[in-house]
Amino acid sequence: MNTELVGRILSTLPEDDDHPYRTGAWRPQTTEWDAPDLELIAGDIPADLDGVYLRNTENPVAPSIGRYHPFDGDAMVHVVGFRDGKAFYRNRFVRTDGLTAEQEAGHALWPGISERPSKALREGGWGARGRMKDASSTDVVVHAGVAITSFYQCGDLYRLDPLTLDDLGKSTWHGQFPSAVGVSAHPKVDERTGEMLFFNYGTDAPYMHYGVIDADDRLVHFVDIELPGPRLPHDMAYTENYAILNDLPLFWDEEILKKGGYAARFRPDLPTRLGVIPRRGQSHEIRWFEAGPTYVLHWSNAYEDGDDIVVEGYFQDNPEPQVPADATYYQRLSRFLSLDGMQTRLHRWRLNMRTGQATEERVSETLSEFPMINGDYVGRRHRYTYATTGVPGFFLFDGLLKHDGESGKEEHYSFGDGVFGSETAMAPRVGSTAEDDGYLITLTTDVNKDRSECLVFDAANLTIGPVCRLRLPERISSGTHSTWASGDVLPNWRTADSMVAALGL
Ligand SMILES: [Fe+2]
Repeated sequence: MNTELVGRILSTLPEDDDHPYRTGAWRPQTTEWDAPDLELIAGDIPADLDGVYLRNTENPVAPSIGRYHPFDGDAMVHVVGFRDGKAFYRNRFVRTDGLTAEQEAGHALWPGISERPSKALREGGWGARGRMKDASSTDVVVHAGVAITSFYQCGDLYRLDPLTLDDLGKSTWHGQFPSAVGVSAHPKVDERTGEMLFFNYGTDAPYMHYGVIDADDRLVHFVDIELPGPRLPHDMAYTENYAILNDLPLFWDEEILKKGGYAARFRPDLPTRLGVIPRRGQSHEIRWFEAGPTYVLHWSNAYEDGDDIVVEGYFQDNPEPQVPADATYYQRLSRFLSLDGMQTRLHRWRLNMRTGQATEERVSETLSEFPMINGDYVGRRHRYTYATTGVPGFFLFDGLLKHDGESGKEEHYSFGDGVFGSETAMAPRVGSTAEDDGYLITLTTDVNKDRSECLVFDAANLTIGPVCRLRLPERISSGTHSTWASGDVLPNWRTADSMVAALGL
């Protein structure tokens, strides 16, 4: 394998670290690699797989102030590009303002989500609650030919070249970026219109905003979304004509909040509220629908069906799992992270625009989350949902699930003992003729063999296992969100030697 170590970053984590989300499959990397031609371990790289798989990773390099939560970790982006039956790989830290400041200081400057903001050693900071580091390690999307990383507590958007992972600076939106609150993770890119839909949230009224960026990276729409108080939305959805926002009954305890503390509490006395607003609608045009109380981390898709707006996502039977009074911090930490703790199952809500009524139904009995669908079907009626299954009691993904929304049939693939994957993007085959005519891609961390692989599956035949296995230069940390961008949305991808040029060969 032709690989080159191109960078290394200072880590001040202790040699004898015992944090469960900084060791084992979550052991962070300090290195950055270029691998122009990945080593093929098994199978063949499909010649009709064309584009890049990008994955963000929570990869901390300094001990936290107080308690570390895995969502606090600094961002590292991995890219595996496929073209003409070959694959290249790169990984790079996202050099956020917070990471740069902490590297200069030689230690952490801002506390994570598990600590009080007052513990910050430096003024300023980011996040819906303020005085956190914007790690930008939650999500990654490709908009207008640029990879964009984001942070679930709101912050800046960091721009990277999707082939080289070169730092392209932060999104400014031609001076219109809402820096005071920032932007939440999970902005949504509509490849049909070139738009990117987004939201943010915070502790000051109106508590949420919704907006649209056009294909030229200009802010063309931005409106207040008035909520009853501070909320903790994580994701949004959209259809051809509407954006779907949410007001869920799990949010910071109001009494503790008044004292400067931040503790998420489930309020089963309150409904789930789903807000439907025309994609360029004004604040007063949003229509709220009420459903049974739950929390939803991720929506898999939404679409229009006659008078109904159909929304699918992962209903939590147990949004605030309880632990014994003598539970350790690590046990308390994992309760909001494990799929079995929260009991996450695929669910469907129907919002009737004529009657204003919502109905809902459980779609699958299987515990799963982190859904992906074929990008060509986002906002339209889809059939297949691809998701991950979780290790009980912990935040790790041990397998893949394909759910057929028409037959209810499910297929499952297990990575095997000690092997953990990440959110699995669906890459339509070049010239694909069906919704599941394509590939599923994930990166694995194998703690037994101390190595990582990129796995490629036939989306129409998951259970036979990967059709292609590629070895990465080094074992990578477990991570979460990912995306697929086909070659035809990547600048210069089609030019004869674009990849060679991109890799500096
Ligand atoms: Fe997420």
